[in-house]
Amino acid sequence: MRIAMIGGGYVGLVSGACFAEFGLHVAVVETNPDRLSALREGRIPIYEPGLDVLVENNARAGRLTFGDDIAQAVAGAEAVFIAVGTPPRNGDGAADLQYVHAAARQIAQALTGYAVIVTKSTVPVGSSRRIAEIIRATRPDLDFDVASNPEFLREGSAIDDCMRPDRVIIGLDQKQPERARRAEAVMQRVYEPLKKIDAPLVFTGLETAELTKYASNSFLAMKISFINEMADLCEKLGANVQELACGMGMDERIGSRFLNPGPGYGGSCFPKDTLALSRIAQEAQSGCRLVETTVQVNEARKAAMAGRIIAACGGSVNNKTVAVLGLTFKPETDDMRESASIPILHRLAEAGARLQAYDPVGMDAAKPLLPPETTYCENALDAAQGADVLVVLTEWEQFRSISPEALAQRMQNKIIVDLRNIFDPAVMRASGFSYLSVGRP
Ligand code: NAD
Ligand code: UDX
Repeated sequence: MRIAMIGGGYVGLVSGACFAEFGLHVAVVETNPDRLSALREGRIPIYEPGLDVLVENNARAGRLTFGDDIAQAVAGAEAVFIAVGTPPRNGDGAADLQYVHAAARQIAQALTGYAVIVTKSTVPVGSSRRIAEIIRATRPDLDFDVASNPEFLREGSAIDDCMRPDRVIIGLDQKQPERARRAEAVMQRVYEPLKKIDAPLVFTGLETAELTKYASNSFLAMKISFINEMADLCEKLGANVQELACGMGMDERIGSRFLNPGPGYGGSCFPKDTLALSRIAQEAQSGCRLVETTVQVNEARKAAMAGRIIAACGGSVNNKTVAVLGLTFKPETDDMRESASIPILHRLAEAGARLQAYDPVGMDAAKPLLPPETTYCENALDAAQGADVLVVLTEWEQFRSISPEALAQRMQNKIIVDLRNIFDPAVMRASGFSYLSVGRP
């Protein structure tokens, strides 16, 4: 079976490579010339564990190709996936659909026979129907169907998420049952390999599929904001948020995942998707106060964390050296989009701090986004050299094993603000540190 993937970014590249691993022939179309030449030369433009080997193996087997010629890519494709960006539109938080609509027009012009046009990008409710309108207007003669197939992969574990998903959501135009059946048959074949591992395929309407993606991301974001507020409360009341989360999570109705407090969620999805869902609800004149509040709580969280670091230094970081461990929005990625490190470090720089930062893979991506005077270090211990305070912003595994003695030897003042709770408070205090974490006594 042949498919085409429009967009070779995070989602297009990872899911395209995973489809190829399932045995499909996948033609990825990418318009960014730097990204395309990297992919053609076997260089992977993003850091995602295991992706290099997966891409190399499937490209070598002839199942995965990269190009900018859409007509060539869609020739013979039974499904054409749209996996282009949907960033927030300037000003109002709604998703900017210009890339999706442009892709729809290009696909319509290029197709020569029947195909299902599948939206993998995260798009507002109604977008799949709008895509169908665009295609009909561009090519009234074309026989096609649309489907909505939102992607739920997480950066850092994206391959596993695609190869072994909790579920695959597929929205079809249920107002036209004949067409829906035809498109379903194609989607069943695309996801055939997942049936062997009993991954559930959930068929639903277009609107439900589109909304399921926003609702899932917003719910997870809300869960994180909830535990962040509980962490604050624990601090006030002398309780321990880690034990609280453990106790809550044992209730299967709640679940233990996504109950880790931190400096506020970031990334390419939660911030934009919570904003977009608020906007979708506003336009539908439906209440969405929990999600709107989640957005506000998360914004306030990042500002509060900068304040916490300043307070830990006695109320001022002016002319003080702040060692920063971790810059990316989460570990195992080089993605800096909406990372909490960005507002926090800008606030510290404005307050006169000297920043010495280290991140295992994110420093190149971080440089254009962080205060220009930031010094980038070779490793965590170099970042700690002469520091007045050490701040943990991303919980990279390698930071957990840093020896407190080695830190103590290098730092000028032994203060740690651990915003990811990676160290043991008792061990840190026994090593003479003034140690602050999140929601733990
Ligand atoms: P991205 O910016 O990394 O990639 C999009 C790519 O599409 C870019 O490389 C761009 O050059 C290319 N592109 C744009 N228009 C094109 C066109 N007409 N033809 C060919 N290529 C084109 O974005 P992403 O992170 O992969 O996200 C894509 C979509 O998936 C978004 O809607 C996002 O919300 C959603 N999503 C992202 C993630 C994630 O973790 N990144 C997870 C789930 C869903
Ligand atoms: C998210 C969704 O999980 C995924 O299903 C969707 O397809 C894309 O958006 P991703 O952005 O890659 O994935 O990362 P995720 O692991 O969800 O983390 C997002 C943010 O929340 C990170 O900044 C992370 O540090 C934060 N987070 C996550 C917490 O602060 N606490 C937690 O318990 C979990």
